[in-house]
Amino acid sequence: MIEVKNVTKEFISPKKYPGLKGAIKGLFSNEKEKKLAVDDISFSIKKGEIVGYIGSNGAGKSTTIKMMTGILTPTKGECLINGVNPSKERKKNAQNIGVVFGQRTQLWWDLPLSESFTILKEIYNVGDEEYKERMEFLNRVLELEEFWTRPVRNLSLGQRMRADLGAALIHNPKVLYLDEPTIGLDLVVKDNIRSAIREINEKYQTTVILTTHDIGDIEELCSRIIIIDDGRKIYDGSLSNLKEQYGTMRKVSMEVRNVEEVVSLDLAESLSVPKNTYRITADLEQSSVMVSFDKNELQVSDIIAQFMKKTDVRDIKIQETELSEIVKEIYNHGI
Ligand SMILES: Nc1ncnc2c1ncn2[C@@H]1O[C@H](COP(=O)(O)OP(=O)(O)OP(=O)(O)O)[C@@H](O)[C@H]1O
Ligand SMILES: [Mg+2]
Repeated sequence: MIEVKNVTKEFISPKKYPGLKGAIKGLFSNEKEKKLAVDDISFSIKKGEIVGYIGSNGAGKSTTIKMMTGILTPTKGECLINGVNPSKERKKNAQNIGVVFGQRTQLWWDLPLSESFTILKEIYNVGDEEYKERMEFLNRVLELEEFWTRPVRNLSLGQRMRADLGAALIHNPKVLYLDEPTIGLDLVVKDNIRSAIREINEKYQTTVILTTHDIGDIEELCSRIIIIDDGRKIYDGSLSNLKEQYGTMRKVSMEVRNVEEVVSLDLAESLSVPKNTYRITADLEQSSVMVSFDKNELQVSDIIAQFMKKTDVRDIKIQETELSEIVKEIYNHGI
C-alpha cells in the first residue's frame, strides 16, 4: 500500500545571524543554510498494517508524513501511496488518504461541525447512501452527535480531535496518517481515540501510520514500529523484537524482613558474574529491596535464592523494562 523509496528532504533556508545586528545582516546576505530533515529513508507498508513512526523532536517524522501526503515534494527519491505519487497527483492521492495533524485542526473554525462534514462530503464526492452509513459508524465510535451543531472553535480539545479524526475518514480512505493524534488528551479520551482507530482498522482494513510521543499509543495499537533519528531510519521491526533486543534489563523487588542484611549482598561473587550486571537499591521504609539486572547474565531464580539465604522474603515482584525506558535509551544513545 505504501512504498517509500530512498526519500530525502533537504530544507534550504536563509542563514540566520544572532541579535538585531544579525537580523539586519541576514536581510542583505545571500547565505543559505541546508538542513537534511529526512535522509534516504525507505520502507514499505502493507494494507491493513498499523505502523508507529517514532523518533525524538525534530527527527523528521512530520516531514516524512508531509511527503507521503503530498504537502511536500521529496528532494530525492519517491513515495508511492496505493500506486500514486502524492506530490505529482495530489488530487488522486487525496481520495486515498485521510490525515489528522493533532497540533492543528483541518476543520473550518467558525462553522458548525455538521457544516464542515457536509462540505467534506461534497469535496470528496461521497454518495448519500455511503455518507449515511459512514456517519452512523463514525457517530458510534467517536460520539460526534454530542457536539454536532457546535462551531469547531467552541469544542474542547478532545472533542475537536474526535471531530478531526471523523472528518479524515468521511471518504473511507485506504491510508490514514495520524500525526500525534492523542496529544494533550486525558486518559479517557485517549482511550476512546485508540479504540476508534483500532475499530476503523479492523472494519475497513485501513492502513494507519501513526506518529506519537505517547508510548501507550504504540503499545496499544502498533505491532510494527519504525524509529527515525536525525532523519535516518534506525529501526524497523516488531515491538516485541525491539523489547527482546534492547529490553534486557529486568527488575525484581522483594519485601524482606531485614533490609540491612541484604542490601550489600555481593551477587557478583556468589553468582560469579561481573559487578556491572546488576544493581541493588533499598527502601528502608517499605522494607523492600530492588535488584535491576541484565537478564542475559543473571537468572531471577538465582537472585531470589541468594536473598532467601540471608533473610525472609515475604513478597516478590518481577518487572519487565518499560518500553518507554527502552525508547528513551534509544533516543539518547541511538541503537
Ligand atoms: N519548512 C521547513 N524549513 C526548514 N526546516 C524545516 C522545515 N520543516 C521542518 N524543518 C526542520 O526539519 C527537521 C525535522 O522536522 P520535523 O517537523 O519533521 O520533526 P518531527 O520528527 O516531526 O519532530 P516533532 O516530534 O517535534 O514533531 C527539524 O530540524 C525542523 O526544524
Ligand atoms: Mg512532528
